[in-house]
Amino acid sequence: MKAHDFLSVRDMSTKEILETFSLARKMKANRRKFAKALQGKTLALIFEKPSLRTRTSFDVGIQQLGGFSLYLSPAEISLGKRESVHDVAKNLERMVQAIMIRTFAHQIVIDMAKHASIPIINGLTDYSHPCQAMADYLTIQEKKKKLKGLKLCYVGDGNNVAHSLMFAGARLGVSVTIACPPGYEPNPSATQQAIGDAKATGARIEVIQDPVEGVRNADVVYTDVWASMGQEAEAEARKKIFLPYQVNGRLMSKAKKDAIFMHCLPAHRGDEVTDEVIDSPQSVVFDEAENRLHAQKAIMYQLMK
Ligand code: CP
Ligand code: NVA
Repeated sequence: MKAHDFLSVRDMSTKEILETFSLARKMKANRRKFAKALQGKTLALIFEKPSLRTRTSFDVGIQQLGGFSLYLSPAEISLGKRESVHDVAKNLERMVQAIMIRTFAHQIVIDMAKHASIPIINGLTDYSHPCQAMADYLTIQEKKKKLKGLKLCYVGDGNNVAHSLMFAGARLGVSVTIACPPGYEPNPSATQQAIGDAKATGARIEVIQDPVEGVRNADVVYTDVWASMGQEAEAEARKKIFLPYQVNGRLMSKAKKDAIFMHCLPAHRGDEVTDEVIDSPQSVVFDEAENRLHAQKAIMYQLMK
């Protein structure tokens, strides 16, 4: 990987993404071989939002590579309030070898990367969730034995996860259809960037409204919560708007027979996905969660070795 940081999937070429997957598969198959790969190195984990998977996978991942992690909670750092992003970067670069950050405004990770001399990893912002997309396409590659030429339909809110799925799909030749209610489309400039990137791989990136049309011929049906972290006040109002976008047995039956179901988790069962879908044999959500560990170990190794 040429980039110094991992802020967006768009920072990587198709070749670099595929090489990262290949390394992740090796790490998954032979954990012991990499047990000293990042010996003695420390990763700081800055969380301004809650997490199960991101915290666990980075924490366990760096330990499996022989390193250490340091969890810094919202109460401890209070980025931009107790101390500026610049000063946090300048302090941490003296003591740790990389920083993973989960925050609200995307500009914070950009600023952190600008000021810090050590690698910065985007662990989710309001704009994107690149680590998730890496684990997701690694999972799709495992399940479908290929990537190029597949179709993924993301049903629901045009959010951070949707953006990163479009960016990575464009690089990998996976067509991505976003089916969302009017007013909840992905950021238009993100969509345009993905459409531009997709020209090189032949993927089709589109945003439509009809979920049934969206999942037609889909190899992968993907959904996420209707209200993301930070949008809790809108959650009730969104329930009504998003109800036609619920991924249930009826909607899944319109996709390809062998389609897999994916969700970044946490899931709100009974809202964006029903139990019958998330607990069905088509669901790969826990493989997807596990692959956060393997994909991020490969990313950390490339940035911190
Ligand atoms: N998918 C994901 O990022 O989960 P967490 O919010 O639990 O980290
Ligand atoms: N879109 C969700 C993803 C959680 C992993 C959120 O930002 O809350």
